[in-house]
Amino acid sequence: MSDQKTYPVNPQIAAGAHIDSAAYQRLYQQSITEPEAFWAEQATEFLDWHQPWQQVLQYDYPKGEIQWFLGGKLNVTVNCLDRHLEKRGDQVAIIWEGDDPAHDRKLTYRELHAQVCQFANVLKANGVQKGDRVCIYLPMIAEAAVVILACARIGAVHSIVFGGFSADALRDRVIDADCRVLICADESYRGGKIVHSKLNVDKAANQCPNVNTVIVIKHTGHDIPWTEGRDVCYHEAMQTASTDCEPVMMDAEDPLFILYTSGSTGQPKGVLHTTGGYLLYAAMTHKYVFDYQEGDVYWCTADIGWITGHSYVLYGPLCNGATSLMFEGVPTYPHPDRFWQVIDKHQVNIFYTAPTAIRALMAQGDDFVTRTKRSSLRILGSVGEPINPEAWEWYYQVVGNKRCPLVDTWWQTETGGILITPLPGATPLKPGSATLPFFGVKPAILDPDGNILEGEAEGILALTYPWPGQARTVYGDHARFIDTYFAKFPGYYFAGDGARRDKDGYYWITGRIDDVLNVCGHRLGTAEIESALVLHDLVAEAAVVGFPHPIKGQGIYAYVTLNVGIEGNSSLKGELKDLVREEISAIALPDLIQWAPGLPKTRSGKIMRRILRKIAANEFHDLGDTSTLADPSVVEQLIANRLKLP
Ligand code: WT7
Repeated sequence: MSDQKTYPVNPQIAAGAHIDSAAYQRLYQQSITEPEAFWAEQATEFLDWHQPWQQVLQYDYPKGEIQWFLGGKLNVTVNCLDRHLEKRGDQVAIIWEGDDPAHDRKLTYRELHAQVCQFANVLKANGVQKGDRVCIYLPMIAEAAVVILACARIGAVHSIVFGGFSADALRDRVIDADCRVLICADESYRGGKIVHSKLNVDKAANQCPNVNTVIVIKHTGHDIPWTEGRDVCYHEAMQTASTDCEPVMMDAEDPLFILYTSGSTGQPKGVLHTTGGYLLYAAMTHKYVFDYQEGDVYWCTADIGWITGHSYVLYGPLCNGATSLMFEGVPTYPHPDRFWQVIDKHQVNIFYTAPTAIRALMAQGDDFVTRTKRSSLRILGSVGEPINPEAWEWYYQVVGNKRCPLVDTWWQTETGGILITPLPGATPLKPGSATLPFFGVKPAILDPDGNILEGEAEGILALTYPWPGQARTVYGDHARFIDTYFAKFPGYYFAGDGARRDKDGYYWITGRIDDVLNVCGHRLGTAEIESALVLHDLVAEAAVVGFPHPIKGQGIYAYVTLNVGIEGNSSLKGELKDLVREEISAIALPDLIQWAPGLPKTRSGKIMRRILRKIAANEFHDLGDTSTLADPSVVEQLIANRLKLP
């Protein structure tokens, strides 16, 4: 491990930064010794409250109860829009960059505010009220910001479903949250190709009896099927809508949104975030982790369908009055220099992306980078999976010209915002390490029995104290919330990741320790993929594991047992991939499918995934303890027929 390699804090950055090393030490100490006083101070500094809170925090982890700023009232859009109008009404809030480099658009705070109010009125006219769930299935277009914030304006709870998910996945999420209104685009562009969003929506909505309204935003403008009485044209509705809409004041603990994420069981969880604590945490981490300064152009490449898009494309930056860039396209279209071209075009100062994108671009060679200037860049960020030191160095040296601190930010959908990260002006960097906890965050490394390990240690990552951005429940299933995060190690929040702490107290995230995969920074449950595979009539059983993949981080390796007497062939593999594409998304497609006459099981019938992971990763010489295997010959057969990794 490269524990030893350390890049000291860049003194120029530290001189102008919000937080230098001394400030980090002092504030971190305060944040953990007097957390309630600390968070009360931050909540006053970062947010405008309509009514102050009576109590900062009340929590009971074993019951999965977490409440922040009890009794406080506020509206998210007042904080993200209205309060900026006086000082920066004409400042650009959203820079939209299309898939096609010739397409771009800018929305000022004043324009965004007016459109958000208009669309909030459209929602109301379509019967949406405070507390109702609204499903948003949109590509990265500027209108996405409008409709998301419009929900928050009137207290409707948005549930954004990533535009790359299939109709079936969309349907399941719409039904789980009982959304009555669905918002989509006609189509979208991705790397020069067309994505048929409305067709997916029709397919899903036809299976959702409670969906009575589909609001369609025209993006490509091509002809699409239309269901009279259900479908509403966004643009027509906006034309007649007033730009005045009183914000609905929400309780700090009223829900703001639901966002589905994969867990170790088949059914995705609707992670619920609330209003006050979430917004505070998103805004504060945005300001300090990226050292956001007045006037900076900030670009987070994440899609709004993921938590990173929620917290760091929209809520955090807009709450801070920043200019946030939204990108519809992909890093390699029209050429693998697109990111760097966009940085030069819009003079981006802060750039936040995922390791998988960095690895993919690194593989294209340095020329695509070095032929651009990138002189506007000041801070680089990484999120989504562990960044390997090689990719880290390339990002830091070639993209950032060794001038820009690189913040490797560890967090999750459930944490709402960044928990472990360097601060640009405060933290010496070690390539591959997410470094140190953010203010108020108390990580611990546990052994399998739940004992806290001190000093240098490796084990299970847990958080021993709440923070305001933490998820409050799993929508409609609080027992699952408790069970997943609080039951295994009572008194702590269990993140599902492993981690190592080095001699300097730096954290190194080692990856998921449950049956969750991280493919291109996307979280996928092995159980979901297995459920899709076994839908095929000829499949008896399937087991899915991850394997190390040079670009995707993890690849997907599927072992499939066919019904007795059935021979596997390549067309059957194609059918299985189609099933996964239909049930979940193309992002969940197995890279490799091995026909498995049998799966390694314990005598009680449990699949021994540890063994399957080792075979997939080509580490079959050391399978560990195999004494509980019911039939050892199964393993030999799988090893003999294993597939070559990409
Ligand atoms: C899982 C959460 C956080 C927003 C994007 C993903 C992995 C995330 C890092 C990082 C190592 C990371 C973890 C985590 N992860 N960031 N900087 N270093 N691992 O959100 O879909 O909820 O996935 O992503 O395994 O548990 P998510």
